[in-house]
Amino acid sequence: MHTHDRLPVEIAALGAYLPQRVLSNHDLEQMVDTSDEWIFPRTGIRQRRIAADAEATSDLAIAAAGQALDAAGMDPAELDAILVATCTPDHLFPATACLVQAALGADEAMACDLEAACSGFVYGFTCAAAMVAGGAARNALVIGAEALSRFTDYSDRRSCILFGDGAGAAILRPPQNEGELIYAELGADGSQPEILMIPAGGARTPASEETVQDHQHFMKLQGREVFRQAVSKLIELLERIPDRTGVPLEDIKLVIPHQSNVRIINSALERAGLPVEKAYMNIDRVGNTSAASIPLAMAEAVEAGELRRGELALFLAFGGGLTWASALLRY
Ligand code: ACO
Repeated sequence: MHTHDRLPVEIAALGAYLPQRVLSNHDLEQMVDTSDEWIFPRTGIRQRRIAADAEATSDLAIAAAGQALDAAGMDPAELDAILVATCTPDHLFPATACLVQAALGADEAMACDLEAACSGFVYGFTCAAAMVAGGAARNALVIGAEALSRFTDYSDRRSCILFGDGAGAAILRPPQNEGELIYAELGADGSQPEILMIPAGGARTPASEETVQDHQHFMKLQGREVFRQAVSKLIELLERIPDRTGVPLEDIKLVIPHQSNVRIINSALERAGLPVEKAYMNIDRVGNTSAASIPLAMAEAVEAGELRRGELALFLAFGGGLTWASALLRY
């Protein structure tokens, strides 16, 4: 789908939370047969953050949401909706969003999770924007939060080098400045689920001794195939934006991509004729945090003064499902 009208909505405030523990490429060298010299040039990653034993996805989400509420000067009771985008929830149910709702004391809010892997935040952002612009919600809190380390196989060097934990949050409200969601495109292709999946622990393959022994509760990914499909889809998404919006790509101040791999982002931008410097990257420090990566990067970019009110930002994402998303907004 893509949006057909501009939606009057703005980001009131952002929040971000990263766990303290750092897992560097050199730490990984002690765990699997790999090296910083292999990982960094192929991915752009130097280190990632790992949740403490006592921290789960909801804890990361609550910390990011608290920061966003403080920055907005908003009471939690003013929230009508809480959407948590995550593929690593605390439990299969109840939803992580409900745990966040209770911790914040957001007594007026509906709360549910949304699972679209790395595209989850942009999916949630677009749904929340429609709710706010359509009058169904006064203020909506959208969080991307992941504890991917809990589902990472640290004996599989093909995947364990990629992932990190963290959370980012955005509060959407009717615009008080020039904010608007100019355009969003969300898509999916579920015909190849095996490219990127956690095979066991759901209704298809419930947990058993055998699934645990076979490491079937960890993420499996066909990295090369994801890489290939991600680059071509991101180019398509970029190329459609000027036609659908009348906004030339050069007018975009900052591309805020899902931090999957620096080579994926650079290839897509170069093919679309954009300088790679347009993309805000923090993958070197946080790795791939799936649904958390875009709000984490945006919070950092705003804090660093790289995106100001009235400027155009573009979210770009591709991930498990397969799912993909772009969203052009005036911040
Ligand atoms: N250290 C050293 N050698 C390695 C490592 C490693 N960490 N990983 C793989 N290799 C070896 C392989 O064993 C293989 O060797 P072989 O040919 O002797 O068997 C060789 O390197 C090439 O392996 P590939 O898997 O083909 O490596 P590739 O160049 O494709 O890079 C990577 C792998 C970095 C994962 C890349 O494919 C990629 O970034 N893919 C997309 C990112 C991705 O999948 N993101 C997940 C999104 S999902 C989400 O966010 C929840």
